[in-house]
Amino acid sequence: MRVLMNYSTVVISGTKLAQEIGTTRSEVWRLVQQLRTLGVEIAGHPSSGYQLSAVPDLLLPELIEPLVRGTIFGGHIHHYYRAGSTNNIALEAAAAGAPEGSVFLAEQQTAGRGRGDHLWHSAESAGIYCSVVLRPKLPPADVLVLSLAAGLAVHEAVTESDATAPAELKWPNDVLIRGKKFCGILTEMSAEATRVRYIVVGIGINVNHERFPAELQESATSLRLGTGRHWSRVDLCAALLKSLDREYAALIHDSGAADQILRRFEEHAPMARGAHVLVQENGGFEGVTEGLDPRGFLRVRTAQGLRVVYSGTVRLR
Ligand code: BTN
Repeated sequence: MRVLMNYSTVVISGTKLAQEIGTTRSEVWRLVQQLRTLGVEIAGHPSSGYQLSAVPDLLLPELIEPLVRGTIFGGHIHHYYRAGSTNNIALEAAAAGAPEGSVFLAEQQTAGRGRGDHLWHSAESAGIYCSVVLRPKLPPADVLVLSLAAGLAVHEAVTESDATAPAELKWPNDVLIRGKKFCGILTEMSAEATRVRYIVVGIGINVNHERFPAELQESATSLRLGTGRHWSRVDLCAALLKSLDREYAALIHDSGAADQILRRFEEHAPMARGAHVLVQENGGFEGVTEGLDPRGFLRVRTAQGLRVVYSGTVRLR
């Protein structure tokens, strides 16, 4: 891809391509075919040479870097055509000393992980599967606010790209369109009792999926299904990294930012206040939501009094 992009104005022979990447012409043909199955438009064949017909919508560092210069993510973007789980890759990299701002992107995940041991459906080149490494000087108790801020960053990126997209947040970490989920966030960390060593924020966005496996059809959607149009994953991914950078900078530099994040989260999360909900935690209970507490947990008024939800799944009653 890199060589094809560098020679985008000319037809490049199979021999030249093979020399540039240190392989054989038959391997070049195999790679070209593989890129075509990912939706990359490449004109030509082994005898005529090859040329890119259009800039591909792949999450390549070469395409994303120029759009995120000046953020903590600039210069730290890693891309995989196929990964097990980008969160696992990021956790391993962080443990080995990867710098803050390292980003791991995949076109496809074969073992994408969701919260509560769920799998995350990660169809090839249809979604954004992104994990970032952060090293905030925060106590572990403040990490929930950071993960709520990541949800806000997704909401911002989507609505900045299309102000008419009816995206809503759902506590703690989902982003929905008309009640169906198109984004989930899995935040994992390594910490001591009072200090975070590193955090991995893993974000999965269903962007251009046209269908889902039967078991997800009721609950999942994509931006394409929700808005009726194709989205550029490159532009959305860059917008996401920029809004994440803004939210994160505010959180670590500005003492009033956490309260602001909670207030803005509530503004965009209609279920967080005044909704009759069922909570699947501690045997399950029901009540009416009363907003977030100062640490970001969800308050629910029950017949027995006010309860705080720490990690359970919350559903509309
Ligand atoms: C959820 O809602 O259950 C969280 C889903 C998180 C999925 C993302 S995709 C990128 C990153 N890598 C993973 O294995 N999971 C997260």
